[in-house]
Amino acid sequence: MNKSSQLRLAMQGDAPVQCVGAHNGLGAKLAEEAGFDAVWASGLEISTAACVPDANILTMTQFLAAAVEMDHATRLPVVSDCDTGFGNSNNVIHMVKCYEAAGIAAVCMEDKLFPKVNSFVPGRQQLAPIAEFVGKIMAAKNAQRTEEFMVVARVEALIAGWGHDEAITRAEAYRRAGADAILIHSKQRTPEEITAFLEEWDHRGPIAVVPTTYPQITASELKAAGASLVIYANHGLRAGIGAVTETFARILKDEGTMNLANELVPMMRVFEIQGMVRMKEQEKEFLRTGAKPVRVVIPAGGDIDLPEDLAALVTANGPRAMLDLYGKPMVERQLDAFALGGVQDVALVGPFERKDIPVENLEVVHCESTSMLDTVHAGLAACPPRSGGATLICYSDILFGKQVVDRIVGCDAEVGILVDQSFREGGRSTTKALDYVFTEPAPAPGRLLDLDRRYIVQEVGKHIDSREANFEFIGLMSLDETGYAMFMKRYDQWKVERAGKPFGHAKTFEQATLTDFLQELADSGQTVTAVVQDRGWLEVHDFDDYRAAIKQLSGAADR
Ligand code: SPV
Ligand code: MG
Repeated sequence: MNKSSQLRLAMQGDAPVQCVGAHNGLGAKLAEEAGFDAVWASGLEISTAACVPDANILTMTQFLAAAVEMDHATRLPVVSDCDTGFGNSNNVIHMVKCYEAAGIAAVCMEDKLFPKVNSFVPGRQQLAPIAEFVGKIMAAKNAQRTEEFMVVARVEALIAGWGHDEAITRAEAYRRAGADAILIHSKQRTPEEITAFLEEWDHRGPIAVVPTTYPQITASELKAAGASLVIYANHGLRAGIGAVTETFARILKDEGTMNLANELVPMMRVFEIQGMVRMKEQEKEFLRTGAKPVRVVIPAGGDIDLPEDLAALVTANGPRAMLDLYGKPMVERQLDAFALGGVQDVALVGPFERKDIPVENLEVVHCESTSMLDTVHAGLAACPPRSGGATLICYSDILFGKQVVDRIVGCDAEVGILVDQSFREGGRSTTKALDYVFTEPAPAPGRLLDLDRRYIVQEVGKHIDSREANFEFIGLMSLDETGYAMFMKRYDQWKVERAGKPFGHAKTFEQATLTDFLQELADSGQTVTAVVQDRGWLEVHDFDDYRAAIKQLSGAADR
């Protein structure tokens, strides 16, 4: 249904159609949010916004541009105040062509002489001859292309002081000329002039009213009296002028904005109105930089049980991801590194809620189970690779820089895991057994390691003897669309078939870790590619790691 039909239908209903004035997209959007049925693209508001008199100073194209902005900002129909039609019948024909083509639901023309003056301005209010205005209405109706487009004829006889009978005569002539509705305007301080008109009119056709000077009467009362469209023409503009005037005065008085914090809407509200939130969502889907779209899942399900000395350093009741590392939570440092590598789409998964993780630009996926595989699976289910892209799995206990991100993002593998050989050099303080890897081929010994060679994973896990291991899995891996589909398929299959049974090097599927899953994948014939990284990362598993990390971070910061 187009917006003209939407407006027509509403005007046939039992409730009054409540329409509020606006002069830009913001006003139209606020009207919709408030629950109005339509937007009045007010000439008074548009002129005031440009700081020129409401007296045909602005051109048709300026009025149209404002109306179109309002129309684009809202799902509501826009009723456009078109003053006298911007000239004679020739101008009206062009006007209807432009407004209708732009998607404006209705135009409203008043029976004054061009150039008009706002109806509430004392003095000159010159009416056009009835015949001339009838010609304009016929021209307008003849120019429209669709059945539904609405032409509202505005009677200014009461405004100009020509009286009740003249108003009725004109309204009737305009109805007969084809007007879809009559707008009867009044500047009286009470509604009697309007109710008398409505009574005599007796529902001959749809009526619009503008109760600016007679606010005593409600929309329902006006509807009962015979008006179907009630226009609150300029109340947003006047409220806005008041609020801005007060705020500006306050800033100068206080010599600052220190006292405004609670009076101003937060920036988040501003972004919400702009559609920034929606844009960011769409951006993840559609904004392409030439690089493949990459998402990240950080499983943090098992991270709630930390060694006591580390747990004391975690903010609130958060997981390891919230471990404060030299003034920043661990996960924020990971986000920073990913962002440097162009990866913005990161989700943390675990048995916590969004509110537990006060970190921006991070999606939080709730997963009640703390089993590592369940956590990984929940994260992957929420973050499938975008078309042509990949989803990374990143352990929550590693710190790394941009080259590490580049390395795993650049890996062109169905299932790729990032491995390193530097554990051989010693100096690692960790008390944890590492996730070692055997590959085929085995890497050349010593410093001749070929970083660009593809090594295929044969064995992975803590059971491998460090003296024999080729590499260490650093906790960052990548699944492209094919690898992802295989991973998810195998998870569903093995969760049922292998329940309670040995899995990888774990006693049961339920106790299995990601490396057990990788082992099973490799054993099932899936190629798991080891991509070699040479340092540039560290693990923060226990308190010694933590101390080492702080030392490096503070050194980096001091330099
Ligand atoms: C407008 O809002 O521009 C109108 C209504 O035409 S009034 O100002 O009441 O004339
Ligand atoms: Mg106007």
